[in-house]
Amino acid sequence: MHDPQDSKPGLSRRSFLKGSGVAAAALGAAPVTALAQAPAEPQRPQAPPAIGPAPPRLALTVNGNQMTTNVEPRVTLLDALRNYLDVTGCKRVCDRGTCGACTVLLDGKPVYSCSVPALEARGREVHTAESLADNGKLEAVPAAFVKHDAQQCGFCTPGFVVAMRAAFDKKPNATPAEIEEGLSGNICRCGTYQQMRDAIASLCKTQGKGG
Ligand code: FES
Ligand code: FES
Repeated sequence: MHDPQDSKPGLSRRSFLKGSGVAAAALGAAPVTALAQAPAEPQRPQAPPAIGPAPPRLALTVNGNQMTTNVEPRVTLLDALRNYLDVTGCKRVCDRGTCGACTVLLDGKPVYSCSVPALEARGREVHTAESLADNGKLEAVPAAFVKHDAQQCGFCTPGFVVAMRAAFDKKPNATPAEIEEGLSGNICRCGTYQQMRDAIASLCKTQGKGG
């Protein structure tokens, strides 16, 4: 049927519809072109290798000794040390990363061993409070605790001496306040803080070497 509008100058309804059809077709093709030109998606990082079902091997150095065992991924470093490797100096008190009784050195840095998966310590060096005695002779830090009577029940003590040793190793000429800051993650429920301060004061005079 004749469209009277077709004979009029300007944009007729028919030419508009024709034009729309062309535009729609063009638009329909556009995404294909756009997709073809889209930059490649960044590659996703590869998933870590699957572990299990058998408990994987854990090999690490504890207080200078090579030790191996097998632990499930859910086992903490604290439990691996105490229950699998019979290294019992680190104590389980809160078991949730708040008290510091389980503090050990992992590659020289103090960590809450109750909050570290044991398998993260594979191939690394762990030092516990046992490393602060040699054939019954106490190293300077635990010796100062004994001298100044800085423990009662003793449950917090292994964590405190390890953290204090780390603080002196980091800065041998630290002030008492700096050493106390290094112990800010440790709690003594018996409240032997003043005796610990006495121990710290004596150690600061000798740069943590005792004597
Ligand atoms: S037992 Fe680990 S922080 Fe308390
Ligand atoms: S000596 Fe008992 S908690 Fe510190």
